[in-house]
Amino acid sequence: MPDVLITENIRGAAMDALHEQFACTFAPDLWQQPDELLAIIGEYRALIARNQTQITRELIAAGTRLEVIGRAGVGMDNVDLDAANEYGIVVALTPEQNTNSVAELVIGLLIALARKLSLADRDTKAGRWDRPRFHGTEISGKTLGIVGFGRIGSTTALKARALGMTTIAYDPYLEADCLRALQSCTRLTSLEEVLTTADYVTLHIPENEETRGMFGAAEFAQMKPSAYFINSSRGGVVQEAALAEALQQHRISGAALEVRQQEPAAPSTFDAMDNVIQLPHIGAQTREAQHRVVTAICRDVAAILRGGEAQNFANFSKPKNRC
Ligand code: MLT
Repeated sequence: MPDVLITENIRGAAMDALHEQFACTFAPDLWQQPDELLAIIGEYRALIARNQTQITRELIAAGTRLEVIGRAGVGMDNVDLDAANEYGIVVALTPEQNTNSVAELVIGLLIALARKLSLADRDTKAGRWDRPRFHGTEISGKTLGIVGFGRIGSTTALKARALGMTTIAYDPYLEADCLRALQSCTRLTSLEEVLTTADYVTLHIPENEETRGMFGAAEFAQMKPSAYFINSSRGGVVQEAALAEALQQHRISGAALEVRQQEPAAPSTFDAMDNVIQLPHIGAQTREAQHRVVTAICRDVAAILRGGEAQNFANFSKPKNRC
């Protein structure tokens, strides 16, 4: 009988080792065929996926041999955690392995917005040499407003501070004097203050019932007309139509969207906007992050399949229905 089903493009030395030790099926496009996935999931003891495979209650219920879901990443929005809990299946994840790569990308986006880098690149490749058009601003001395001050938000703050920015953050789950805030010299404050005072607002929140559609017309209306908006968390926390309208009406200066409501993203009004940078959800797509992610998730899946325990898990360390 097969052991492990991999439904997205997850590769690396640790994955090669997993293939040697267990009967693995590598089906990197299967996330696009949910009916086919549903039909075969019952054969497997482990499922490994990124954020594109929809791991629904129906899929989990059909996984009658499933012991572990290995989520190669950190977001849980594509996993029905309640269903996994009910069926006693471990949900292993990689909570820290992406952090630095995403934070570095946010710094890159800050600078790209401030210096209009992606537009300047397109313009120069089109044969122009228009220096006045690409008059930008420094990020040093500006205020970065961070919404969600977990691992990625606080790591971004540390890097931004090193570049001379002031950092403020909103996180209703943290105390104002928490270690993360003290270490990064970041003042925790209200969402209203973050939105009304920051020169850049960056989101680092999960998508769930509480946050879905959290950024709409009212939130963009509070931002300064000179401010920029960066989303590298989850597309579903932003009302994209409201963001497009805020940009069209110059209520904010620009945006960088690394994640989208629907992925892959369909053509949209953002495509024609010079002040919007769009990326295909690549925050964690670095050699280093992927090495760490794949190593950690393969280690935990292998441990469960051998009767052991996961080190990083969203619910419990070993299957509940194990004798
Ligand atoms: C994550 O949740 O870890 C990131 O969005 C990257 C991913 O899922 O591939």
